[in-house]
Parts: sequence; structure tokens; C-alpha cells
Amino acid sequence: YGTQGISNEGHLTIGGVDTVELAKEYGTPLFVYDTALIRERARGFIDTFKQLDIKAEVAYASKAFACVAAYQLAAQENLSLDVVSGGELYTAIKAGFPSERIHFHGNNKSYAELELAFDTKIGCIVVDNFYEIRLLKEISEAKQQPMRILLRVTPGVEAHTHDFITTGQADSKFGFDLNNGQADLAFEEVMGHEFLQLLGLHCHIGSQIFETDGFSLAAGKLMKKIGEWKEKHGFECTVLNLGGGFGIRYTEEDKPLAPHIYVAEMINTVQAEAAALKLAMPEIWIEPGRSLVGDAGTSLYTIGSQKTVPNIREYIAVDGGMSDNIRPALYDAKYEAVIANKANAPKESTYTVAGKLCESGDKLIVDAALQQAESGDILAMFCTGAYGYSMASNYNRVPRPAVVFVEAGEHQLAIQRESYDDIVQNDLPLVLKKGE
Ligand code: LLP
Repeated sequence: YGTQGISNEGHLTIGGVDTVELAKEYGTPLFVYDTALIRERARGFIDTFKQLDIKAEVAYASKAFACVAAYQLAAQENLSLDVVSGGELYTAIKAGFPSERIHFHGNNKSYAELELAFDTKIGCIVVDNFYEIRLLKEISEAKQQPMRILLRVTPGVEAHTHDFITTGQADSKFGFDLNNGQADLAFEEVMGHEFLQLLGLHCHIGSQIFETDGFSLAAGKLMKKIGEWKEKHGFECTVLNLGGGFGIRYTEEDKPLAPHIYVAEMINTVQAEAAALKLAMPEIWIEPGRSLVGDAGTSLYTIGSQKTVPNIREYIAVDGGMSDNIRPALYDAKYEAVIANKANAPKESTYTVAGKLCESGDKLIVDAALQQAESGDILAMFCTGAYGYSMASNYNRVPRPAVVFVEAGEHQLAIQRESYDDIVQNDLPLVLKKGE
């Protein structure tokens, strides 16, 4: 993937840097991001819109991987930003991310989070529910401050990998239902408000999607609603946000399309609907997360103990696990790996890669094809850039790993490794007295 290669010594390299050296310098577990690949992916999306002469914003769905340096990289690449919490918003502002390009999502944004969005003058709030409309009216009136908004709707299209399902009513915690009158009610509540400026609609139909049909179907449904509102209320929609969810390749079973194919297909549908309904072409916004950072991230671990269960399997255990990558345990997610210090050797062995956490389900890869492993070897697990670090925990009081960025032969720390002191820093001593 990306700028990966193999050095003369047979070591895996990323961005021209020897991963075995990175492991030595920064320790393991370690996340290594190929920032050139993130740039390439970002430009892939942005350039497709440009070439087709479509006004667009490509917002990085930062829940996939968020930190100051990641936000600064996104800003360098002219991405917009999707944040889903006060914490992500705060980090983005700290990183100096241009606030007018920040979009705020979430199904239960608090008063304080919404106030922060107003105070930092972000570009858009994606409104999820009626309670939020009430809070937004209250805050915008109190501050006498305008805010651009989108209404998030659930179109009854849900996509997952190769399948998508359509339902009349979506059973989702997110958004206003498009098919049962909820979206119309929300529209009436915000339309004409002194400070809330409705730009258009948003939907997000799922994640790790490999087909374009779901996006087209959803886009079509949203455009029809926009046509209806134009006819009934004279509403001019300027933005259609079709969310994220573009799939990536984790293993050979995954066959994603190139990003520009999803984008071109979306544009086609929206253009056709706009023409049919005599609507102006809206700006198209998208929110890729995984497809920007997923395959740019590689996890490095040191192999420690090994165990043979005769006639069943060979385990190798690494110095991380579900605390830095919950996806195999949570979603049964599949990954590929290589022994980084033997990257040239044939993969003639099969091991189950276990983590070090106290839970039998803490396995990172079941039956991985790998080079012959010895304790002390460095295991590189690929495509861990999305929802790895961002979903990491301190389970078992394991410190979170460090994150490094590599590009063109250079490397830099992006997130420091947590220390044991970090782990106890919020703990307070027991004050309550022992009972008799
Ligand atoms: N926009 C919205 C409104 C979303 O809810 C999401 C993801 C995205 C964009 C970005 O989706 P992406 O392009 O990354 O697929 N933890 C799970 C994925 C959860 C996705 C949640 N929403 C995983 O590890 O697979």
C-alpha cells in the first residue's frame, strides 16, 4: 500500500523509513501513518469534483483518527472537517483548523457543545433531532448569531459492504425520517428562523461500502424531497451532503472501487435528478473517514510469547491488542500482517496473533499467513489507520501507543506514548473511612 517497500536488509519500509528502526526509536506498539498516502487520497476526492466542475467540500470524518497533527494535515490538504463531539471540535480549534470549514455532527449534542460551535464560529451544524432544533434556536437567539445548518435525514437506505437494504422507515438513532413526515416537520421548524440558515440535507448510509447503488438511491430520495420543498415552500437548496462510507481493502476479499468512481456516480445521480426536477445543482459535500486514513496506518508490535495448541493452532502474542485495535474483537474485522524484519522471507507459517489483554477474545488476526516468527520480531499489521487509535482504550491500564507520521524519508511523533503517570493522573486517593 502507498509508499511501502522493502529495504536491502529485507525490512518493511514506509515513506522511505525502515519500520524496524521506527520500532527501535519510538517503541511498540506504534501506529505509523504514511502521510503521503493520506494526501493522495484527499487529492483524489477533491480533484474529481474539480475535474467535473462541481462545487464541493470534502470533509474528513475525523472520528476515524483525530489528533492535532492529523487536523493540521487535513487543513494542509484543503479538506473540510467533520467533528462529532466537543472533544474533536476543541482539538481541531487547538490545531488551528479554519473553523469555517468545520461541520458538527451528533445525535445528542449538548448545550455546551453547541455553544462552543457558535463561539468558535464553525461553518455548519448538521442538525439531528427536534431537541437540538430547540437548543439551536435558544443559543442563536441568546447570542444573536447566525448559524448555517443541514438537516440530517434517514432516507431508508442502509448500505453495508456489498448489500444495501431499503426500508420505508429506518430504525436508526440518527436523523429525521425522510419517509414519515418527520423531515417535513423539522423543515417547517427551522425554515424562516431569524438565525438558522438551512443550506440543505445530509444523509450517511453506512460504512465500508463497496457499491455505488446505495449512494445513488439515497441521493435520489433526498433530491425528490428538495424538489417537494421547493415547490411547496420555494426552498432553494444549496448543499447536499451524502456522508462517507467508501470502503477500503483490508484483505484480498475486499474489492473497493476507486474513490473517484463513487464521486462520479453521486454527481451523475444528483445532476440527473436536478435536471428532471428543474432544480439548481447543489454543492455536493462528502465525509470520508476510513477511505482517507485507513490504509495509510500500520500498527507495529513486538512479538513476545508463543504457544502451541497441538493440532489446533500456534499463537504468537504481541505487546498490544484490543486496547489499541478493538475492531477484530468488536466487529470480527479481518487484517493482514507481515513480519517487518523478515519482509522478504516467504509467508510459510500460520499463526493466530493474540493481544496481551486479559480476555480470550483478544485476538488481532486468526490464522494469519506469516513468515516464521521468533520472540523479538516486529509484526506490522496493515490498514489500521481508521478506527484503531481513535477507539483505543486503557483496558487493563495499558497505556495508549505512540503515533508517528512518515513521509519522504522523514518521521515525526504525532502523539506521544502514554506513560504510567498519564494513566493515574486523574485518579484520586480514597477518602471514605473503612466501616466498622
Ligand atoms: N459521516 C457520518 C455521519 C458518519 O457517521 C461516519 C461514520 C462517517 C461520515 C465516516 O464513515 P467512513 O467513511 O469512515 O466509513 N467504528 C466503525 C465505523 C463507524 C463509522 C461511524 N460513522 C469501524 O471501525 O468500522
